Amino acid sequence: MNIIEIIYKKRRGIAHSEEELTYLIENVMSGKVPDYQLSAWLMAVCCQGLNLDETTWLTDLYVHSGQTLDFSDLDGMVVDKHSTGGVGDKTTLVLAPMLGACGLKVAKLSGRGLGFTGGTIDKLEAIPGFNVNLSVKDFCEQVKTIGLALGAQTAELAPADGKIYALRDVTATVASIPLIAASVVSKKIAAGAQVITLDIKVGEGAFMKSLEDAKDLAYTCREVGKRLGRSISTVTSFMGQPLGNAIGHTLEVMEAIETLKGKGPQDLTELCLTLGAVTLVDAQKAPSLEQGKSLLKEVISSGKALDKLAELIETQHGDVRVIEDYTLMSQPKQKIKIVAPTSGFVQHCDALKIAAAVKSLGAGRLSKGEPIDLSVGVILHRKIGDAVKTGEPLAELWVNEKGKAEAEALIIEAFEFSSQPISKAPLIEELYLSHDLATL
Ligand code: URA
Repeated sequence: MNIIEIIYKKRRGIAHSEEELTYLIENVMSGKVPDYQLSAWLMAVCCQGLNLDETTWLTDLYVHSGQTLDFSDLDGMVVDKHSTGGVGDKTTLVLAPMLGACGLKVAKLSGRGLGFTGGTIDKLEAIPGFNVNLSVKDFCEQVKTIGLALGAQTAELAPADGKIYALRDVTATVASIPLIAASVVSKKIAAGAQVITLDIKVGEGAFMKSLEDAKDLAYTCREVGKRLGRSISTVTSFMGQPLGNAIGHTLEVMEAIETLKGKGPQDLTELCLTLGAVTLVDAQKAPSLEQGKSLLKEVISSGKALDKLAELIETQHGDVRVIEDYTLMSQPKQKIKIVAPTSGFVQHCDALKIAAAVKSLGAGRLSKGEPIDLSVGVILHRKIGDAVKTGEPLAELWVNEKGKAEAEALIIEAFEFSSQPISKAPLIEELYLSHDLATL
């Protein structure tokens, strides 16, 4: 067996054996496969795919390429939710404290933003002092003591995915169903989650552009999870426009806190309630989705979810006063209003263009480790279906020196209007509980 034969086989669309994939990943881990050969194999997989057996073997190989966490001695289920990435997606900041307040243990390792998607870890760093770099030991300890830990993905867990993901990012091989499934599911299993809820994003602002592909990805993740002994539920949600109204780091933390105070935007609140209810049902904390949603609404209205966020911030050495005083987070020099150029109904609010606008202001990075500006971003005053008159506000840009004109132009371009009323975009496209189909 050699690497060239493995690449050639996949190029011709022939399925790999478990031994071949084991040989490949072992050699990747020992540094014997140069990036050009691994890139060629990744491109062949993008074009020819992997079947479910191959995807399951690959996932398992990623899991066992590093350390695995085990919370089986804990009282209570350890849960995790993961999104395949989108624009304005701050659900983790809302959902993790909500689930913690419902008595679940939440052990969540997240990533930084790269490309057009934002990263939870960067958002958490908008809170002054917040320590995202927990050691594996401290992470596990915190899950035990306060029932909730949010940390940066460590090199010890699923390192084969870490290596391969970095290469996929620069070789246009991210948007592959089996590669995304193996990457996401392996990280969740390695981090010790007993209940896994995946938010599969679909639309222009997501890796999966069509509903058919998103459903296929959701099915692949559930099936791989099942074969590896984990129950995985999936919610497929719309990412044709940003989630919520705020995009940018400080702004997203503010919106997440507002949502925990019961004053969040409707779409973000609905998605958090849905993902949370699915998780509660799977963890046997609620008998139905409806009752799960009621429990979650209760922890918001009683303030318990907000208290849980405060406990998390304090434990991870952040400044807990941000919950009442948003100006303690990094602020921009200037706020610019953007108004509607015409009257009508918003028919399109392009997530990718809005992400590009925020990135041009300095909030995104093109390569790993680049510094980013946490204070800049955009607040959307109108979204799909909303009516607007010429001169009324469409959005507000939070800016410093960089990229103002480009961002303004991109925001204007992101909006399209119709003279006829437009119905609101459906948020939840499909929902599967790990054991059976739930009706929407
Ligand atoms: N998120 C991940 O963790 N991995 C992917 O491959 C895509 C999105």
